[in-house]
Amino acid sequence: MFAQALLGLLAVVELVRADTGPGFPFQVAQSLNVSFGSNNVSPAGELIPRPETADPPSISTPIFTSAGRAVLFMVDSDVPRNGTRVQLLHWLASNVTLSPTDNRTLSVPGTPEAAYRQPSPPVGDTSHAYTFILFPQPEGFSIPSQFQDVLESRVFFNISGFVQAAGLGDALAGNYIRVQNLTGSATTTFPPPRATNATTSGAVPSATGPAQFPGEAVGGFGGGRAFWVGVGAAVVAGVAAVAL
Ligand SMILES: *[C@@H]1O[C@H](CO)[C@@H](O)[C@H](O)[C@H]1NC(C)=O
Ligand SMILES: *[C@@H]1O[C@H](CO)[C@@H](O)[C@H](O)[C@H]1NC(C)=O
Ligand SMILES: *[C@@H]1O[C@H](CO)[C@@H](O)[C@H](O)[C@H]1NC(C)=O
Ligand SMILES: *[C@@H]1O[C@H](CO)[C@@H](O)[C@H](O)[C@H]1NC(C)=O
Ligand SMILES: *[C@@H]1O[C@H](CO)[C@@H](O)[C@H](O)[C@H]1NC(C)=O
Ligand SMILES: *[C@@H]1O[C@H](CO)[C@@H](O)[C@H](O)[C@H]1NC(C)=O
Ligand SMILES: *[C@@H]1O[C@H](CO)[C@@H](O)[C@H](O)[C@H]1NC(C)=O
Repeated sequence: MFAQALLGLLAVVELVRADTGPGFPFQVAQSLNVSFGSNNVSPAGELIPRPETADPPSISTPIFTSAGRAVLFMVDSDVPRNGTRVQLLHWLASNVTLSPTDNRTLSVPGTPEAAYRQPSPPVGDTSHAYTFILFPQPEGFSIPSQFQDVLESRVFFNISGFVQAAGLGDALAGNYIRVQNLTGSATTTFPPPRATNATTSGAVPSATGPAQFPGEAVGGFGGGRAFWVGVGAAVVAGVAAVAL
C-alpha cells in the first residue's frame, strides 16, 4: 500500500520534472547535454559523485543562437545562508560558441568572467542542485556593473536579476546535477530544501545562522529531495520518515 502511494508520488514528480533545479527561476524546453568525463548526465538531476566534478563538463546543445554567441551559467541554488537557501555562481562564461569541428559541442573560453568552481556542498547537508543554463548573448554584452563583485564573491548571486540587467532574453537550454557530501560530520544545521510552489513557502526555520562553509551545493533526504517538487510538505514529511 505504501509502495502504491510512492508510485503515485513518483508519477506526480515525473510530470513536473524540468531540466533546471527545483525552484530554479527559469524553466527550459530544451535539455543541455552535460558530460563529466564519460558520465553523461541523465536523467536531469542525476546525483554525481563529487570527485567526478573536479573538471568542467563538456556540454553540447540541441539548439544554438543565430547571434553566434551565448552566455553559460552554472548556479547552485541551494546554498545555506542566513537561514535560507541562496544562489552561488559556479561558472559564468560569455562568448560561448559552437565548436568548429562539430556543430553541437559548446566551446567555452578558457578565461571566462567566473572560472568553473567544483561543487562543494557542506558535509551533512541535503544534495545541492547545480543548474547549467545557456542564454543567447546580445550584441555588446557586458557584465552589469552591480554584478561585478559577485564574480569574485560568488555567493548571493541572483540569476533573475542578472538576466534582466543584461537583457539576455529567453534561455536556450538547461540541465542540472545534484551533489551531496555525507562523508564527514556536519558542523552546522541546515534549512530545509528550497520550498517550491507546491510546498509551504514560509517553511524556513529561523535557527540557522550563516553557514561556516565557503561552500556550495547541498541536497537532502538522499534521493528523496525530488519529493519536494509538486507534493505537499506534510506528505513529504511522511515519505521522509518512512525512507529514513
Ligand atoms: C551527449 O554527449 C555525449 C558525450 O559527448 C554523447 O555520447 C551523446 O550521444 C550525447 N547525447 C545527445 C542526446 O546528444
Ligand atoms: C545575511 O546575514 C548577515 C548577518 O545577519 C547580514 O549582514 C547580511 O546582510 C545578510 N545577507 C543577506 C543577503 O541577506
Ligand atoms: C568576448 O568577445 C569580444 C569580441 O571578440 C571581446 O571584445 C570580449 O573581450 C570578449 N569577452 C571576454 C569576457 O573575453
Ligand atoms: C550539424 O551536423 C550534422 C551532421 O554532420 C548535419 O546533419 C547538420 O545539418 C548540421 N547542422 C547544422 C546546423 O549545421
Ligand atoms: C533577484 O532579482 C529579481 C529581479 O531583479 C528580484 O525581483 C528578486 O527580488 C531578487 N531576488 C533576491 C533574492 O534578491
Ligand atoms: C566532503 O567534505 C569534506 C570537508 O570539506 C572533504 O574533505 C571531503 O573531500 C568531501 N568528500 C567528498 C567525497 O568530496
Ligand atoms: C511558481 O509561481 C509563480 C508565481 O505564481 C509562477 O510565475 C511560476 O511559474 C511558478 N513556478 C512553477 C514551477 O510552477
